[in-house]
Amino acid sequence: MARDKITIVGAGNVGATTAYIAATKQLGDIVLLDIVEGLAEGKALDMAEASPVQLYDSDVTGTLDWEKTADSNIVIITSGVPRKPGMSRDDLLTKNVQIVKETSEKTAKYSPNSIIIVVSNPLDAMVYTAAKVTGFAKNRIMGMAGALDSARFSYFLACELGVSVEDIKCVLMGGHGDDMVPLPRFTSVSGIPISELLDEEKIAELIDRTRKGGTEVVNLLGYSAYYAPAAGTVKMAEAILKDKKTVMSCCAYCGREYGVGGYFVGVPVVLGKNGVEKITELDLNKSEQAQFDRSLAHVKQLAAKVDKLL
Ligand SMILES: NC(=O)c1ccc[n+]([C@@H]2O[C@H](COP(=O)([O-])OP(=O)(O)OC[C@H]3O[C@@H](n4cnc5c(N)ncnc54)[C@H](O)[C@@H]3O)[C@@H](O)[C@H]2O)c1
Repeated sequence: MARDKITIVGAGNVGATTAYIAATKQLGDIVLLDIVEGLAEGKALDMAEASPVQLYDSDVTGTLDWEKTADSNIVIITSGVPRKPGMSRDDLLTKNVQIVKETSEKTAKYSPNSIIIVVSNPLDAMVYTAAKVTGFAKNRIMGMAGALDSARFSYFLACELGVSVEDIKCVLMGGHGDDMVPLPRFTSVSGIPISELLDEEKIAELIDRTRKGGTEVVNLLGYSAYYAPAAGTVKMAEAILKDKKTVMSCCAYCGREYGVGGYFVGVPVVLGKNGVEKITELDLNKSEQAQFDRSLAHVKQLAAKVDKLL
């Protein structure tokens, strides 16, 4: 049986780390592509040379040549500039729209049946760009943000409560910005609502840290996070390739769901071999829906900017 083929576009911090985690989990054969000569080839060779120690048989190759990506099952788009201290994700829009446009066109040409996971920022606008450019069915295009934001919230909660990270289950919705919508009402520790374990003030503090989680790392490093983003991306790829029917938050196309009206935004979904197989509709209360609507308005503004740039 042939192995699955995963192309990762962009061999920078997020792309290379995604490749390495995916290889160690033996998700399939990996092609890492970049426009910088030697970068993807060098990192892929380094990863391949780690395989006898880490014991994985995944083939990891690096290239500048899109032909080597042909017929991938999954294409993960990480190409694009990351933010620096003082920048918001939105500041990346003009530059990254052109990069994601180009890489989406190539993806549609060489892997017309693939499922695309976009990681480049500003995330929701870049997923919108990839969808517009490729014309792929909406279930085959999605963005990674909820996996990361949920991981951050889970980590902060686990540290605060002194419990295993494995026990935390949470849902985040909205765009991948500071106006994301963590939902404490749907967050639990092995089924125990967090409202039973923490007071409102503490929950609000952890939500605020989650919203600013990306900025916290940017300010420490001088560039943006990549271990947790890569881990979140691999979780999505694994759910799809292993047809796990994983319930998780991701940036997905919503028509009538949540009153979105045809945009890509963060919602809880079921991920399986067909990509986004279902959008889970929660009965949001007034305050939750208002926060979601505010975040969605921001996502729509960015999509309008993309329309002008494409
Ligand atoms: N969705 C999220 O949660 C999340 C988290 C972290 C980073 N990001 C975003 O992911 C993107 C990548 O971040 P990073 O830290 O890996 O940046 P990076 O600068 O380390 O890597 C980006 C890579 O893309 C390559 N690239 C640029 N144009 C290309 C093209 N046309 N074809 C192929 N490769 C091309 C660059 O050469 C570079 O190697 C950024 O936009 C960043 O904001 C998103």
